[in-house]
Amino acid sequence: MTAQGRVVPAPADARAEDGRALVIRRLVKEYRPGQPVLRGIDLVVPSTGLTAIIGPSGTGKSTLIRCVNRLVQPTSGEILFRGEDLTKLSGAALRRARRRIGMVFQEYNLVERLSVMENLLCGRLGYVPVWRAWLRRFPEPDIARAFALLDAVGLPGFATRRADALSGGQRQRVGIARAIMQEPEIILADEPTSSLDPKSSVEVMEILSRLAAERGVPVVVNIHNVALARRFASRIVGMSGGHVVYDGPPEGLGEGDLRGIYGGESWLE
Ligand SMILES: Nc1ncnc2c1ncn2[C@@H]1O[C@H](COP(=O)(O)OP(=O)(O)OP(=O)(O)O)[C@@H](O)[C@H]1O
Ligand SMILES: [Mg+2]
Repeated sequence: MTAQGRVVPAPADARAEDGRALVIRRLVKEYRPGQPVLRGIDLVVPSTGLTAIIGPSGTGKSTLIRCVNRLVQPTSGEILFRGEDLTKLSGAALRRARRRIGMVFQEYNLVERLSVMENLLCGRLGYVPVWRAWLRRFPEPDIARAFALLDAVGLPGFATRRADALSGGQRQRVGIARAIMQEPEIILADEPTSSLDPKSSVEVMEILSRLAAERGVPVVVNIHNVALARRFASRIVGMSGGHVVYDGPPEGLGEGDLRGIYGGESWLE
């Protein structure tokens, strides 16, 4: 803890890289017994770059991301995050692990009646003592960082705007800035562009890929738009029927692979 009562982020060597941010082994999720949605997923998420997960609706992309931060309880398998099996954690250990995982959602999940700045500072809640958060008294360095992040996501001057007075694209940038405030070791984004127009979608993907490149935070994005995945991802994972059926660079993703992922071909250009 610092004099201000903040928990100091893990030193760089505690985040020692073995090149893998997440190692998922034989992951199975059944919402109903005997009806697996994820049917034994094996996946390694590298500790650099942006990994895009594509696949048809209902194939388990959100379930996979939710298993990682344990919004969904996996049925079996392992999810190793910096060597620790997330599926085994509970209580305080799970809360600590969640703090290291930044989430970005399709529907933004901002607190509508709070200002942009307050939403960002809520990203630090895991680090700020409850009484300070309650009084909305946040440490100066956090406030300075929040201003810098607003600049970084293209929203300078938006600090005092209420969240409910923002466009979808602006909200999603706040959502991303809030996730970064947490100083996460990985960011998981579930359809961050689905509610956005094409230009805002590109801008949000640009911000996420820049984040991965410049801050060295691995980013995993579930996305329906294959063109955006190809353009911004360093790696693409294709899911179908609860399995990983493609795992490789965007350049390697051919029409045959897309047929394998989505089925049929009448939709292909
Ligand atoms: N809480 C739940 N309880 C029961 N079944 C669920 C639950 N959440 C998801 N499912 C089912 O699990 C399957 C996978 O859902 P999931 O949301 O992970 O798919 P997805 O690939 O993210 O789809 P989309 O592209 O439409 O977002 C679907 O058949 C869905 O109906
Ligand atoms: Mg989904």
